[in-house]
Amino acid sequence: MDADPKHTPVLLSEVLSLLDPKAGETVLDATLGLGGHAMKFLERIGAHGRLIGLDADAQNLAQAQQRFRSLPGHVECRHENFRNIARLDLPEVDILFADLGLSSPHVDEPERGFTFRADVALDLRFDHTQGLPAAEWLRKVSLDDLTRVFREYGELKSPRRLAGKLKESEVTTTFSVVRVVEAVFGWKAPSVMPQVFQALRIAVNDEMSALDALLAAGPLLLKPGGRMGVISYHSLEDRRVKQVFRILSTAPQHPETGQDLHPADFALLTRKAVVPSGAEQESNARSRSAKLRVIMRRSSAPS
Ligand SMILES: C[S@@+](CC[C@H](N)C(=O)[O-])C[C@H]1O[C@@H](n2cnc3c(N)ncnc32)[C@H](O)[C@@H]1O
Repeated sequence: MDADPKHTPVLLSEVLSLLDPKAGETVLDATLGLGGHAMKFLERIGAHGRLIGLDADAQNLAQAQQRFRSLPGHVECRHENFRNIARLDLPEVDILFADLGLSSPHVDEPERGFTFRADVALDLRFDHTQGLPAAEWLRKVSLDDLTRVFREYGELKSPRRLAGKLKESEVTTTFSVVRVVEAVFGWKAPSVMPQVFQALRIAVNDEMSALDALLAAGPLLLKPGGRMGVISYHSLEDRRVKQVFRILSTAPQHPETGQDLHPADFALLTRKAVVPSGAEQESNARSRSAKLRVIMRRSSAPS
């Protein structure tokens, strides 16, 4: 099995131990990336297993597909956004996995347009065939909405001032955004730069509503005994995953007596989010903010 030195799958052993892929199972990887986790799923599900992989980024999907060529098992890679999961005519699965956000090449390859460390056209989309590049989106968004994006997705102080200056400046490249951030935040600019770009990326890809759609429809695709795991990288995402998984795994109660009416349809396999070990955090800086949560669909129908 080839290991790509540039790309280390986050929380790999924890994912494998909690999701526990078995021979012959069907796995849906909603964020295939370079297929790091998926290769290990394939190893476990074997020649009689089936892997369906989605990614909004066509380039990543093609690279993952290339890596799977030598492996046994039925693999189907689809250029799709997981926001459409309910409409993709997917089969019931034993495992649904999502590893949210950016992949290593998005960060490492400046030409992908996600880094503020190189001067490239301001795009920030995973899927270049959908939506508007960030530069165009900035021209269309209202000052109020842009302010809200910086406040909510970037947790920035002075969101309105930054929004106003960006609208005025008609930015077209990553460095033109950098210059505006420097003008607004002065010596604090380097520390807020990641938040500014994160906020714009979340907005341009409409990431929060995509995650909501995944959390609403994903659990319904699980077979009895099926497991769903999500790795998130910031508190906005993790809060949503935690809340939905908690609701799904809480037994409905009698409105008057407060007694459980029947067991919940899902069980929470992670009472607390699973985070990378100290050793993983040290060897892979990108893993540092990762949080994994897992639920399982109960086997027996509630009585
Ligand atoms: C963290 S990477 C996944 C890495 C993968 N687990 C691996 O080990 O190679 C996240 C991937 O999800 C994709 N992605 C992000 N949002 C998406 C969405 N809404 N629908 C489909 N793919 C998405 C990105 O393009 C990226 O390739």
